[in-house]
Amino acid sequence: MSNSNELLKNIVGYWDGVERKQAREQVGTDFSEQKGKTASDIAKLHPKRLQLTVSEIFQDTPSTKTFRLVQSKQSLVNKPLPPFQAGQYINLYTTIDGVETARPYAISSCPTHREYYDLTVKIVDGGFVTNYLLGDEVKVGQEFSSTSPMGTFYHNPIFHGDDLVFLAGGSGGAPARSMIESALNRDSNINFHLVYGNSYENDVIFQDTFRELADKYDNFQLSEVISRPTEGYEGLTGHLSKELITELTGDASSKTFYICGPTPFNDYCVEQLKALGVEDKRMRIECNGPPKKPSCLDGWPEVVSEVDEVTVTVKGRGQFVAQAGEPLLNSLERNGYTVENACRSGECSLCRVKVLSGEVFNPPESLLRKSDKDFGWVHSCVAFPTTDIEILY
Ligand SMILES: Cc1cc2nc3c(=O)[nH]c(=O)nc-3n(C[C@H](O)[C@H](O)[C@H](O)COP(=O)(O)OP(=O)(O)OC[C@H]3O[C@@H](n4cnc5c(N)ncnc54)[C@H](O)[C@@H]3O)c2cc1C
Ligand code: FES
Repeated sequence: MSNSNELLKNIVGYWDGVERKQAREQVGTDFSEQKGKTASDIAKLHPKRLQLTVSEIFQDTPSTKTFRLVQSKQSLVNKPLPPFQAGQYINLYTTIDGVETARPYAISSCPTHREYYDLTVKIVDGGFVTNYLLGDEVKVGQEFSSTSPMGTFYHNPIFHGDDLVFLAGGSGGAPARSMIESALNRDSNINFHLVYGNSYENDVIFQDTFRELADKYDNFQLSEVISRPTEGYEGLTGHLSKELITELTGDASSKTFYICGPTPFNDYCVEQLKALGVEDKRMRIECNGPPKKPSCLDGWPEVVSEVDEVTVTVKGRGQFVAQAGEPLLNSLERNGYTVENACRSGECSLCRVKVLSGEVFNPPESLLRKSDKDFGWVHSCVAFPTTDIEILY
């Protein structure tokens, strides 16, 4: 024992550690006892499910509404909701025509307003949830449940620096509004340039807010770009090409780019930035859901069309017919199978199912681990069955 004590004396910090342990034992601190308390504190701050009520609805543009959500419980209305980082989203659960589903939406309000979350939703042609949310059915007073805020798309001053460009397309204006406004309110050293692409000049979300911010802050610059302008429109037009990005933002090499819009917009911006030599670590990309046209991606089997029908068998539970071009999670939900999900864009892995037989197309956004691939697990939110399949979950 004395020999080992001699040895331990030579380990830097060992006796400090022993003293701290003894002191804690004196005051009775037992971390194993605190475990439950810590978990319940975290659950209070960041509960798994939130019950929310629509308190106001704003028609932002012809294609977009903002839903202001407050806590449903009467005693909690106007009390703070769980904290979030500007840029994060919640997954909003809803039941439409008997189908239980969910969609993630970025919180477009600022984290300083904790008594509500604003969700800004843009209609999608043929979209299941957006046509419901933006139709006549959803009114003030309607209740929804959701996850707590989540996601990694937010400004990190240590890693991202202070020379920032946000390339936003359409609904990408939602996280842009929260991130830009909160960064400007907080940090006067930051330079933020928003290059905001939209199809039509009368359909630019938060146009007035962004213009007011650009007037108020010298360190915020706004460039609006319209891809389908009406005749005589005098502003910037076209797509966010590498030439336009360079013309507007100058040397790209030292900047951090946030990219958020529909999936094809994100893919195009990444391609342009790569052509400008921007390193991957300088691009922060927010996914916007599954790919819209999976059959155009590398690896999609040539003989399969998106409208081909395949049979999905859920082992021991039943089977149904789905289309190859529809994400597996969506067809499961439509047929009454509930699968946990949050990001619906391949990142969080909550929606994993195991493919026992058949072929599934996994696009690049499906962030599968090697072990998932080896054992046949797929992220059903971005998995497309290209033959008859049998799954287990
Ligand atoms: C992290 C995150 C944050 C987001 N934030 C926002 C936000 O702030 N605001 C916002 O408006 N959106 C946001 N989105 C997108 C949002 O979650 C939804 O994807 C969007 O609202 C469309 O939902 P939908 O149900 O209307 O469309 P869906 O019904 O899911 O359809 C989406 C697309 O797939 C196509 N499709 C559907 N079924 C098939 C099929 N069988 N074959 C081929 N194609 C098909 C549709 O035509 C449509 O183009 C976000 C997404 C993510 C992942
Ligand atoms: S829901 Fe997150 S990976 Fe599918």
